[in-house]
Amino acid sequence: MNNSTTISRFDVADIRAQFPILNRLVKGKPLVYFDNAATTQKPQVVIDAIKHYYSHTNANVHRGIHTLSEEGTLAMEGSREYIAQYLGAKRSEVIFTRGTTEGINLVVHSLGLFHFKKGDEILISAMEHHANIVPWQILCNRLGLVLKVIDINEKGDLCLDSFRSQLSHKTKLVSLVHTSNALGTINPVKTVVDDAHKAGALVLIDGAQAMAHGKVNVRELDADFFVFSSHKLFGPTGVGILFGKEQLLEQMPPYQSGGEMIAEVSFEKTTYNELPYKFEAGTPHIEGNIVFAEAVKWFAALDHQAVHAHEMALLRRATEHVLHIDGLRIIGEAAEKTSVLSFVVEGVHHQDLALFLDTHGIAVRTGHHCTQPLMKRFGIEGTTRASFSVYNSLDEVDFFAEKLQKTVAILR
Ligand code: ALA
Repeated sequence: MNNSTTISRFDVADIRAQFPILNRLVKGKPLVYFDNAATTQKPQVVIDAIKHYYSHTNANVHRGIHTLSEEGTLAMEGSREYIAQYLGAKRSEVIFTRGTTEGINLVVHSLGLFHFKKGDEILISAMEHHANIVPWQILCNRLGLVLKVIDINEKGDLCLDSFRSQLSHKTKLVSLVHTSNALGTINPVKTVVDDAHKAGALVLIDGAQAMAHGKVNVRELDADFFVFSSHKLFGPTGVGILFGKEQLLEQMPPYQSGGEMIAEVSFEKTTYNELPYKFEAGTPHIEGNIVFAEAVKWFAALDHQAVHAHEMALLRRATEHVLHIDGLRIIGEAAEKTSVLSFVVEGVHHQDLALFLDTHGIAVRTGHHCTQPLMKRFGIEGTTRASFSVYNSLDEVDFFAEKLQKTVAILR
């Protein structure tokens, strides 16, 4: 199939019609939602699935033998099975978490109990989200490890030279963001995984931003751990996935303890449940875990080539527009970039900009985007960020650019 055939099957109007929130007004104006990197909106099928769960199924899972409990368990395990297949993983390798942050904390905590010795090194990059900095920093302080940082260039590309020059036999783990939330940079994750493995290091990839823009096969990527969140992938909040290679998860001690993660408990000794339950203490977010698969199915059914072409068209149009604004500097111009446009405007504070844009119904995010070291690297406090998703339209981009231009003129 050639590209033009693929793209012609992509209908933004049809996709928009599946998102009820896009019909609402904000400050009397049609909502223009450009804060998709923070969280995506939810299609009707996801909203319906949440309602269906509480109207028909609600019961605790893995515990009861009554019908509702069995149905809930089947639905939740079916969701795990589906997500595992989508990722190219085994179901035992797919752990339900509260989100990307918890997935990283789980790995940090569990590996921290046996994998590292004093003086070992952990490599992260200058563009990490706080969730992929602070847990490692705490671990380094506790165990006497060294946290090293891969540099980036002025455009926001990862410097592979900096990565390779710091990678050594001392590197025990590399933890890298797949796609930067603040810059939009798509990192050469496969190269990093392969190089790190050659040096004997484990690799964790933070896939929070990547998953809503295309499919990731964890088996092909070969990362040891891969984490992401449901709410950035058209699903409910409070739910995420940690993928881990089975042989590693088997060796790793539990993160949290309590019900469900045990095989047998006595006051003398406790044995742990099999994978993936060893890492799922307590009653899970049952509805969220079930509906997560509905969100992934919704996204999986789209033509991903067409989605990519559409999102790149939005980014190109927005970039062309804002380049005409005097004193505007784009932060993040990597060669490989997702549909994120971060910028600063000389003499205009980003918060004032966002407040004015909100009066036109336009939602953007401002600030440091939980990447303070990255902002420091660019010598700024924060940016205004417009992040586009599959349901955004070129008309919305034009409207945003017009209002942005006027707002900048007023604020100056
Ligand atoms: N990490 C999310 C963002 O970039 C919250 O907005």
